[in-house]
Amino acid sequence: MENIEALREEVLAEVQKAVDLAALEDIRISALGKKGRITGLMKNLGKMDPDQRREFGQALNALKDQVASALDMRKGDLENAALEARLTGERIDVTLPSRPDESAGRIHPISQTIDEIVSIFGEMGFALAEGPDIEDDFHNFTALNIPPEHPAREMQDTFYLPEGEDGSRLVLRTHTSPVQIRTMQSKTPPIRIIAPGRTYRSDSDMTHTPMFHQVEGLVIDKKTHMGHLKGCLLEFVKTYFELDEVPVRYRPSFFPFTEPSAEMDIGCSRKGGELKIGAGDDWLEILGCGMVHPRVLAACGLDPEEYQGFAFGMGIERIAMLKYGIPDLRTFFDTDLRWLKHYGFVPLDVPNMVRG
Ligand code: DAH
Repeated sequence: MENIEALREEVLAEVQKAVDLAALEDIRISALGKKGRITGLMKNLGKMDPDQRREFGQALNALKDQVASALDMRKGDLENAALEARLTGERIDVTLPSRPDESAGRIHPISQTIDEIVSIFGEMGFALAEGPDIEDDFHNFTALNIPPEHPAREMQDTFYLPEGEDGSRLVLRTHTSPVQIRTMQSKTPPIRIIAPGRTYRSDSDMTHTPMFHQVEGLVIDKKTHMGHLKGCLLEFVKTYFELDEVPVRYRPSFFPFTEPSAEMDIGCSRKGGELKIGAGDDWLEILGCGMVHPRVLAACGLDPEEYQGFAFGMGIERIAMLKYGIPDLRTFFDTDLRWLKHYGFVPLDVPNMVRG
């Protein structure tokens, strides 16, 4: 019986000291396994007389149960401790600020500038309009009072698609002005639209890319005159460049689809080679505009005796470069991620009219 007592103390102490599940399993085998210490004592039972065997047998069984349940408990404790350690090790601190996501996309300055222009004119009551990049001769030229012999139709300027069965050739639109035509054909005045989009010309050098962007504006009703044009465009440049005052001037110009036609300049300074908009004694051309030509109205089925209005067209790259200090036009379309990271806008963090 002393043997049993000694073994109980020994095994239970071992169980308590086991540091992990593997050590515990070794202890189980060394006590209860086939060649284990308790199993070994069982074998002595055969040599005992019945009274002794009963007493010894009961004590041994009790020891076996006790050891088994001690092993179970220790196993549970070790498993809990292991889980606890893992949970602590893997805990996420949800209060840490997130790392800037390097793989997050940026908004291209062209998209950003289009959004700004559309929202500024949107505030003035202009609706967004769009037209196809592939145009026909009528919408891109004829209806805009550009006669067949006009230089804009020459091969070096315009991208022509292969001749169709009827001998006509579609073009990649050379400006956004065809959206004026499509709008006047499909809507009854009053019309107020702003139409941004891609435009194409067979031209490529420092200041020209074969694909670029323009935005077209058109207002048609019965009374709109040149004063409205001036007020509207002045309001636009002040809001776009975020300036309280901007000197502007209108130079007489020529476009086949407007009469009179003008180019709008904004005041700037170029002192020390640095361009500053809104002050100084220099001028910078930013857009073309004019009163819609009676022939254009007529080509769209509107009576020029009844309707009138103004139109304007502006290069988006150019005014994006001016506002955001982007020096080289060609970089807009190089698809260089470093450039985009530098000049692009973080989504949800873009400047707008309300937040500046
Ligand atoms: N379509 C002209 C161009 O591509 C720009 C333009 C000038 C548009 C005057 C207009 C306008 O609507 O009135 O150069």
